[in-house]
Amino acid sequence: MSSVIIDVKLKDNKAGNHNEDRQKIAIITGGTGGIGFATSKALASQGYNLILGYLSDSENAKKCLQELETDFNIEVRTISGDVCEEGTVNSYFSCLNEMNGKLTAIVHTAGLFKPNSFSKDPNTCFSTFEYYDYYQDIYPKCFIRLVETGMKFMEDGHGYIVCLSSPGCNINDHVRLGYMMPGTGKCVLEYLSRHYAKMLAKRGISCNCIVPGYIQTKPWKLRESILGPDVGCQRTPMGRWGQPEEIGDFISYLCSPKASFLTGATIPFDGGLSLGRQ
Ligand SMILES: NC(=O)c1ccc[n+]([C@@H]2O[C@H](COP(=O)([O-])OP(=O)(O)OC[C@H]3O[C@@H](n4cnc5c(N)ncnc54)[C@H](OP(=O)(O)O)[C@@H]3O)[C@@H](O)[C@H]2O)c1
Repeated sequence: MSSVIIDVKLKDNKAGNHNEDRQKIAIITGGTGGIGFATSKALASQGYNLILGYLSDSENAKKCLQELETDFNIEVRTISGDVCEEGTVNSYFSCLNEMNGKLTAIVHTAGLFKPNSFSKDPNTCFSTFEYYDYYQDIYPKCFIRLVETGMKFMEDGHGYIVCLSSPGCNINDHVRLGYMMPGTGKCVLEYLSRHYAKMLAKRGISCNCIVPGYIQTKPWKLRESILGPDVGCQRTPMGRWGQPEEIGDFISYLCSPKASFLTGATIPFDGGLSLGRQ
């Protein structure tokens, strides 16, 4: 799928709640999704200008863009395209080159769980390399492309990188067939975030990974008929779903000078899920 820039609008973002007197730009893959859009709003409130990647839902992307432009005095661009493809990631950087400001944050949230990507037979749990390759492409390969190019644009002392893992690749108390394929991609993300944290520490650029628990976004709604509406409450020690805004605010904190000494961390954000079943 080729990438299409669907919106271009320039604004002076001098107004607003800025901590730094510089034009900051954030690239957010999946920036129009549940967690991604909450992150977009939280970074916008810090005065970030935004490049938001999404796959194909242009109607939703338009709504997100309008909301951000109405509520915040910032520059926003939305770019469609599959992040599994190198060309899509390149189009984010082409867009960056056209904007006025400095790349300050990269947040990789894009993700799509493929329900058919696992075998239902515990004796043949590995399905196909097709799904394995998909999860490698969308998680680690995309992240490598984003970071390897993005770090050249970042200024020393002004760079924040965040990716999102999932609980499934950390829970070891029982076999989770459904998570085998996505887990192979997410665990590499966790490793890469530590690798890049070490590599970029001397430049004062941080890299962290968040492991969200059950966050109430559309993908869960779509699986409600199979899992029930309360799966997030039932499985979370705190007894409730996490909200996308809670994760968005935390990512925004990680992408601010307040968190500048925090790097190389893989942080559960999950209402106690990582502590195991009660
Ligand atoms: N929700 C949870 O409980 C939870 C828990 C742990 C981890 N996570 C992780 O958090 C991230 C976001 O999850 P979410 O629940 O917010 O998902 P979501 O609401 O479905 O949003 C996904 C976003 O990613 C975009 N996207 C999907 N596939 C893409 C592709 N191949 N190329 C480019 N963009 C793509 C979507 O674009 P379109 O709108 O155009 O499709 C959308 O903007 C994922 O990485 C997920 O693994 C979520």
